[in-house]
Amino acid sequence: MIRKNLRIGLVGATGMVGETFIQLLNEEKVSVQELRPFASEKSLGQSITYENKQWPIQILKPDCFKGLDLVFFSSGDPISKEWAPEAEKSGAYAIDNSAAFRMSDNHLLVTPEVNGHLLAENPQPQVIANPNCSTIQLVVALNPLKKFGLKKVHVATYQAVSGGGKEAQNELTSQMKNLSENKKIQAPQDFPHQILFNCIPEIGGFDEQGFCSEEMKIINETKKILQLPKLQISAFTVRVPVLNGHSEAVWAEFEKDVTREDVLAAFREQEGLKVIDNPKNHAYPHVVEASGKNPVYVGRVHKDLNLPNTWIFWVVADNIRKGAALNGLQIAAKLF
Ligand SMILES: NC(=O)c1ccc[n+]([C@@H]2O[C@H](COP(=O)([O-])OP(=O)(O)OC[C@H]3O[C@@H](n4cnc5c(N)ncnc54)[C@H](OP(=O)(O)O)[C@@H]3O)[C@@H](O)[C@H]2O)c1
Repeated sequence: MIRKNLRIGLVGATGMVGETFIQLLNEEKVSVQELRPFASEKSLGQSITYENKQWPIQILKPDCFKGLDLVFFSSGDPISKEWAPEAEKSGAYAIDNSAAFRMSDNHLLVTPEVNGHLLAENPQPQVIANPNCSTIQLVVALNPLKKFGLKKVHVATYQAVSGGGKEAQNELTSQMKNLSENKKIQAPQDFPHQILFNCIPEIGGFDEQGFCSEEMKIINETKKILQLPKLQISAFTVRVPVLNGHSEAVWAEFEKDVTREDVLAAFREQEGLKVIDNPKNHAYPHVVEASGKNPVYVGRVHKDLNLPNTWIFWVVADNIRKGAALNGLQIAAKLF
């Protein structure tokens, strides 16, 4: 983890990702010289407690990043677009959780266990993009399979409501509460339909070809991070009534004919990836176990009956930890 005593800014400190970021700093006992939390005007007057000190919430304004070494952004695309370059101009590294810079040719998109070496090759303060939560766990599982000649990937996701932020998570819990109190389930606000007892095949807006933006993020970001521009990859994303933790069913086709032992051995060698694979004893990854933990988990590894050299597996991770805050901290750890 980060060893230097840094001056850290945290934009979106009161959100799901921001709060998890503070929790991770606590768990890793990271000492800071300064913590400068930012949120919207409605949070002014609140403060963040860290290392027995109160750090008052501030709002974004000119020169607000002065003196900081590192600024984490988790307040959505428009805020990152406007303010992350300001952090860079003031001499800080900006690690951005939004989609604003991910596909830019001028910015790194980093999952440290996969392409962290790029950070050492580009050591000056800059805006570094954190990939989409569903992409991060997918690339950690796909990276060790590149040596088999990874040709084609199909992924279907089962994504938790926490991926939509605090308000989205509250929508599921308040629908549950109303149901348990025999009240009418309130109309959806963050989701297009009731999320309780439902699966919604829509995450982000749709394009002309019928893909929603979450699917296109997975497709484009995976190719960029794995440096496989010709990878044939398709994604179908679904929001499910799970509080926290994303799951993915993956079909991966290789050039090479390999055994199950080859695939398992490759997974076991990958940093950040844990194999749980004994399905007959009900041992495979699932979100109840994975939520609140740091690794990406993989299991249910088996060969497709019809598709040549195609392997099927199940990938699970905590979307706020490895999918956002932890990945950002790991980037920082490589920088400092
Ligand atoms: N949740 C996930 O699993 C996940 C995973 C990967 C990436 N991300 C990305 O991370 C970002 C944040 O997600 P989240 O889940 O943490 O959302 P969230 O729970 O809704 O939190 C949003 C944060 O942004 C702050 N904010 C809003 N307006 C602001 C402003 N004008 N100036 C400064 N801060 C402002 C909010 O402050 P107030 O409390 O004052 O409103 C809050 O701290 C998004 O870009 C999201 O796509 C999320």
